[in-house]
Amino acid sequence: MSPYAHVVGWGRYVPERVLSNEELAHLVDTSDEWIRARTGIGERRIAGEEESTATMAIRAARQALEMAGVRPAQLDMVIVATITPDYLFPATACAVQDALGARHAGAFDLSAGCSGFVYGLGIGANLIAAGACRNVLVIGSETLSRVMDWSDRSTCVLFGDGAGAVLLQASDVPGGVLSVVLGADGSGGDLLWQPAGGSRHPASHYTVAERMHCLRMKGREVYRFAVQQIPQATREVLERAGIDIRDVALFVPHQANQRIIEAAARTLGVSPDRFYCNLERYGNTSAASIPIALVEALEAGRIQRDDVIVCVGFGAGLTWGAAAIRWSAPLPVAPLSRWASLVYRLRYWQAGARSAGRRLSRWIGARFNGRKSGENGRN
Ligand code: ACO
Repeated sequence: MSPYAHVVGWGRYVPERVLSNEELAHLVDTSDEWIRARTGIGERRIAGEEESTATMAIRAARQALEMAGVRPAQLDMVIVATITPDYLFPATACAVQDALGARHAGAFDLSAGCSGFVYGLGIGANLIAAGACRNVLVIGSETLSRVMDWSDRSTCVLFGDGAGAVLLQASDVPGGVLSVVLGADGSGGDLLWQPAGGSRHPASHYTVAERMHCLRMKGREVYRFAVQQIPQATREVLERAGIDIRDVALFVPHQANQRIIEAAARTLGVSPDRFYCNLERYGNTSAASIPIALVEALEAGRIQRDDVIVCVGFGAGLTWGAAAIRWSAPLPVAPLSRWASLVYRLRYWQAGARSAGRRLSRWIGARFNGRKSGENGRN
């Protein structure tokens, strides 16, 4: 058994379409000044018609696999953290598993709001520590633009779409995910929620007319919760890992609001420069925000080998989570050779062909069996 879970690959994807604050000011009564001053957000990405939580997750996941040189067939588990799955069921993770050709992997979605990615890291690391898995793909992917009430200025200016992924791998070498703290307080469930679409309020003319399928939030309460919870979870996760806060190279917080991040930094007595921030460009992408920020921080050279970093999130549930990680992957990452890239393309093509073949054989089987049972019925 190899008890340590190391991050060996990572990837991110954001849609091309940029929605600026100025454009939003044509939709609702708001302004670039208000949004920037209250949140730090300048623009966000919006998924195209053909894009969804699954398609974005697949793109981020492929990068993570290719970087690590791991074949899809080597994956043991695919976890997709999301509050905007393609469907309530089946899980978006199954669509990702199928598209990658991860034929030996289990797959499930995880709903923990913006803490979802950290929850996924915790579960993935523990599956590895228990010896149940060797390679676990943890993805955060969201298409929040599809659950926005575009007439509600208090929410529609905050959120955006995107995906980020990391590949966790078992190793005997100490390091990787050092400690994880996960928490929840369900009494705050109605502070940030999507009231309809589940079994409590299934879709009806009424729920649609009342926009109950859109995200609703009591922003001030969530703000208060966040500024208290980020420092608390951060201290706890560092204590569990036996690491002094001064030895943390970078904090990668959930990207919800610049003021929340600055307040948390102040409470922790840490300079805000040690908190990675990209919400100016993407807004709040919920479960995708931490992995997108993490990948960008790596690309920007803000994380070096052997650095300790802390990912910390909070969100719907209410939930919170923090993970301390000692970075062990070699940096910078060598680009994939054209040959290796071609081999991966062929693998994805093969996965698509295998999936189509299975659908076809099920279709033929259903027709053949249907005809046979019809004949039997006549006999
Ligand atoms: N443009 C202009 N004015 C606005 C806008 C807007 N887009 N939105 C609200 N206002 C107005 C309000 O109507 C209010 O006006 P009033 O005083 O006349 O009533 C005024 O601005 C102040 O509103 P507040 O809600 O008090 O503004 P606040 O400073 O609290 O900022 C915000 C609001 C940005 C939402 C903040 O509360 C916040 O960031 N909260 C945390 C949200 C968060 O982190 N959510 C993500 C959780 S993660 C997840 O799981 C998805």
